[in-house]
Amino acid sequence: MLKKIEELQQEFRTAFEEVKTKADLLNLKADFIGKKGKISKILKSLKDAAPEERKTLGAESNLLKTGIISQIDEKLKALNIQEMNEELSRVWQDITLRDSVRDKGLTSAGYHPVSIIQREIEDIFISMGFDILDGPHIEDDYHNFEALNTPPNHPARDVQDTFWFSDMVHLLRTHTSPIQVRGMESKKPPFKFVGPGKAFRNETTDASHEFVFHQLEGMMVDKNITVANLIYFMKTLLSEIFRRTVDVRLRPGFFPFVEPGFELDIKCLICGGDGCSVCKQSGWVELLPCGMIHPNVLRHGGIDPDEYNGFAFGLGLDRLVMMRYGIDDIRLLHAGDLRFQSQFKAY
Ligand code: DAH
Repeated sequence: MLKKIEELQQEFRTAFEEVKTKADLLNLKADFIGKKGKISKILKSLKDAAPEERKTLGAESNLLKTGIISQIDEKLKALNIQEMNEELSRVWQDITLRDSVRDKGLTSAGYHPVSIIQREIEDIFISMGFDILDGPHIEDDYHNFEALNTPPNHPARDVQDTFWFSDMVHLLRTHTSPIQVRGMESKKPPFKFVGPGKAFRNETTDASHEFVFHQLEGMMVDKNITVANLIYFMKTLLSEIFRRTVDVRLRPGFFPFVEPGFELDIKCLICGGDGCSVCKQSGWVELLPCGMIHPNVLRHGGIDPDEYNGFAFGLGLDRLVMMRYGIDDIRLLHAGDLRFQSQFKAY
């Protein structure tokens, strides 16, 4: 009889693997553990077994029975979930969205203003022959800091406090600059590319600071690149974005990954230079830190700095959006308020 139990186990296994639908599963269940099922028959026939074997046979059959029941239950759960998901995807609609759109008298959704600006800038750079690269939000210390000439304990790390993972190696990237490193790792010079995306810092929020924000990194590597090339590309970019001449100023700026480094500011388009909360009453908004790529950064990217050089820049997209649309609080960008969001339709 022990052999019979083993055969039954094998038979169940084969049949179970072929189950595709809930109906198949319920038939299988009835066939094995239903009142007149195969297991029930065995259990009933135990009384005919030799008394000394009865105990083992009883235990084995019960084991088989409980095993079968739990496998069937598991599968039933999985099939129910699958069924529910299929049903949901058939009938799914975003009720929340519909209600709030209707309640507020709004008609349709649009693009997020950051996406609008990002796409426009990508188009401008594509037209100038740049590639568009992407990079991970979760970075490692090497790509976020070390390869960018910012070794452990470098004071420049202090202003980029972020969210670390418990291994203390991975972190939410504090800027899009690691895309530079990944770009150099994957390309051979000459090249030029931009890398847009989210960046994260452990910051207290106010009208001009958020702990999630957007940047667009840019890098050009070739032979004999000068600051004149950098200025040309930045000027072309800004006049395209703002569709008007903007006042700019260049100041020396320090970033470990560029030498020399600059801060390119534009005159505040919200207040026209008189001073407001966005420009912190200074009349100028820091928009575009940039500079000539530090030789150590090129070396980390596998590029010989005696042969090639280049420029890099990091554009703050949120500030640009605020300037373009006259938004005076960066927190509106993430608040998810449809009255705000639905004002931006174009791209
Ligand atoms: N990664 C810098 C930051 O977030 C910005 C930056 C400065 C990027 C200079 C650059 C650069 O590419 O050249 O503060």
